[in-house]
Amino acid sequence: MKINDKPYKTIWFENNIVKIIDQTKLPHQFTIKSLKTVEDAINAIKKMEVRGAPLIGATAAFGLVLAIIENKDQNFIKKSSENLVKSRPTAINLKWALDRVNKRISGTNSKNIFQVALEEARAICEEDIKFCKNIGLNGLKIIEEITNKKKDKINILTHCNAGWLATIDWGTATSPIYQAHRKGIKVHVWVDETRPRNQGANLTSYELNEEGISNTVIADNAGGILMQRGQVDMCIVGTDRTLSNGDVCNKIGTYLKALSAKDNNVPFYVALPSSTIDWNIKNHKEIPIEERNSDELSHVEGVDKDNKITKVRIYPQKSKSLNLAFDVTPAKLVTGLITEKGICEASEKGLKGLFK
Ligand code: MRU
Repeated sequence: MKINDKPYKTIWFENNIVKIIDQTKLPHQFTIKSLKTVEDAINAIKKMEVRGAPLIGATAAFGLVLAIIENKDQNFIKKSSENLVKSRPTAINLKWALDRVNKRISGTNSKNIFQVALEEARAICEEDIKFCKNIGLNGLKIIEEITNKKKDKINILTHCNAGWLATIDWGTATSPIYQAHRKGIKVHVWVDETRPRNQGANLTSYELNEEGISNTVIADNAGGILMQRGQVDMCIVGTDRTLSNGDVCNKIGTYLKALSAKDNNVPFYVALPSSTIDWNIKNHKEIPIEERNSDELSHVEGVDKDNKITKVRIYPQKSKSLNLAFDVTPAKLVTGLITEKGICEASEKGLKGLFK
């Protein structure tokens, strides 16, 4: 997708260096950062310079390539893989991507190991682009159905950033929006601010602006009243881990939006590539929910009058805080899952119908 009218992907590999767009600086500064070592990749994931389930999976895969460049010793590669998988706990894509690269390199001799790992990391990225595009084409059908009934513009609410910045290109939740816009459908997006890190306000609104899509940032708690007033036609969100029973683990606050959507008969869709499905965990209580530093709650970042990025504290130093980064939306609140293979019910039957 475009930034300043120039097409970009969120991650690429050139001259033995992984290049990323530093998302901690957006929307105020557009900076391309170089990752040269596996430690750089781990830090980029931890600090959320790259974030979003598919993108952190791809970064972990390239991180393992960087480890191989540093040292082809089996123990070093194994330890690097273990450290990468621990860098963020909730999104299943990290493990999924590392398992793929590890499987491909297992038994490969040290002469070829770099090339084989690189091929697999690149294949993960190419596949994600294809899958996200298909999610868009499948989700477009739902948008078309709703607009055919309404005959004017469609209002879509989204939470956090499940946009192209969270993937390699297209995004998951935003992909149907981009497809609809390209087809000439009038789309307006309600963008949840998404406290505490503001991925909605900082990233989703930014990428929609760059693509010329009408959007309005709202406070996280505003979705309810907009739904009561009939100003939301559908919700589309992303997911970091989708259980085989259709339960969806996504950015904190998603659950409250789904409850509100249910109460107001607003369709609530979750868009996902199959790389976020966890076929093993049966109960959502087993999902590791990331707890991040309380600084993210107690401080906000923005630009001052000189356009300099500044961080300020917003509540008493003495106050305690709890910063849970994800929550679980039970399948019963999800209207449907939009995947690369089609749309299905949020249930084991629905998912297995598409994927097994
Ligand atoms: O903490 P983040 O910014 O990595 O959280 C991202 C999300 O919650 C996204 O909705 C999710 O990863 C889906 S990505 C297409």
